[in-house]
Amino acid sequence: MDRQFVDITDVRQLWDMPLLNAPADPEWDTYASKEPRMHRIHPYPAKFPAFLAERGISYARSAGVRVKMVGDIFCGCGTVAHEARRLGLGFWGCDINPVATLIARTKSADLCPLEFRSMLDRIMRLARRAKGDIQLAPSARERLNRWFRPEQFADLAKVLNAIRHVVPEPSPLQDAYLCTFSAILKPCSQWQQRAIKPTLDNAKLPPEVFATFLKHALTVAQAIEEAGDLSHSPAAVVELGNALSVGLPKRRVDLLVSSPPYVTSYEYADLHQLSSLFLGYADDHRQLRDGSIGSTQHDFRLAKGIRDLNRTATRTVFSLYEQDKRAARSVANYFIDMQAIANRAMRIVRPGGIAMFVIGNTQYRGVDVDNASHLTESLLSARFKTVRVTKRTISNKAATPYRTPTGKFSRTQTSNHIYSHEYVLMAHR
Ligand SMILES: C[S@@+](CC[C@H](N)C(=O)[O-])C[C@H]1O[C@@H](n2cnc3c(N)ncnc32)[C@H](O)[C@@H]1O
Repeated sequence: MDRQFVDITDVRQLWDMPLLNAPADPEWDTYASKEPRMHRIHPYPAKFPAFLAERGISYARSAGVRVKMVGDIFCGCGTVAHEARRLGLGFWGCDINPVATLIARTKSADLCPLEFRSMLDRIMRLARRAKGDIQLAPSARERLNRWFRPEQFADLAKVLNAIRHVVPEPSPLQDAYLCTFSAILKPCSQWQQRAIKPTLDNAKLPPEVFATFLKHALTVAQAIEEAGDLSHSPAAVVELGNALSVGLPKRRVDLLVSSPPYVTSYEYADLHQLSSLFLGYADDHRQLRDGSIGSTQHDFRLAKGIRDLNRTATRTVFSLYEQDKRAARSVANYFIDMQAIANRAMRIVRPGGIAMFVIGNTQYRGVDVDNASHLTESLLSARFKTVRVTKRTISNKAATPYRTPTGKFSRTQTSNHIYSHEYVLMAHR
């Protein structure tokens, strides 16, 4: 056993020594240098710090793994995708949400800053006289009307029409512009600033659309310039699909670096609703909850799944069942999906490779949901040889360890305690 890690090779170890006792390693807490600007082109719930990808790569190399191809089955906004490309490595990843894959494609594309800037002038000129409306299903229009003032909606439609007219589709440049557009939707709407759950704030005075778009596009242009020429690394592959069923990568990856969704914490489909509806990814954003792991909106599958729950899952689900049956069902669904993810990871990572997961524990209705132990058990059952575990501090959460009922981080003790640590699991195949 290495000083900074506890090695779990047998599920029985989890009963004697919970991961809670895993050593905390400050090496995984922070990183001295600033994140590349590319990571700031679009906000994303539960984006993880970019340096974790680089740390994962160094770890794998020091463990003797030749890393050429990196994967992320929950690629979100493409943090790992961008880091892999920046470091000259191949990337394969997927996410079930189309807004996530739009951002991830943009962040891992090799874009030409001059082309991006020259199109910006044309878009801005055209936007002023473009049509202030877009084609939408009645359900999408009705929902967007709740979030946008009519004048904001009309100006946003103008910008979107101008993008579609000026930038050829489908193309990485159009992705980059749609991503820029998507990033300004929340600020330009009545979405309560910094709320992590959809919250309407009718008193909010949203900023002027054209100026906001221009300003953000200039930030994106700077990020593209800073990223420089990425043609030295292989083109990244970002698939839109369910990690449990999407086609496997052509070449297995040497290292998987993923942070899984948690049950009950974020309903990604709801959080991305403005972008999904405006960009036409769905007529009703709730359709995008289908297959999303951790969503509490799925039907109960426990009757079939109860036999499949592993030991950590069974213990948690039964404790929860006494408190809240519905919550227990959601958690059971989540655990069953994550067990399947462990099997999937086994097929994606090549023999001798590593699957790294960054995962935190949660609490639901006062019951501890030990996601990290559950995933460790699942990875061992999927026949990973060893899971090496360390803990890292999530700095901003340590100061604000609670969440209010509307989901805001808070210092005052409410019912929802969140944890100041999360786990880094290194599953050696
Ligand atoms: C914690 S976030 C990952 C964030 C990512 N590391 C980043 O830095 O952006 C989890 C992601 O899992 C995605 N997800 C949920 N269910 C999925 C599924 N069945 N298949 C693929 N992705 C899924 C969500 O859309 C979300 O983007």
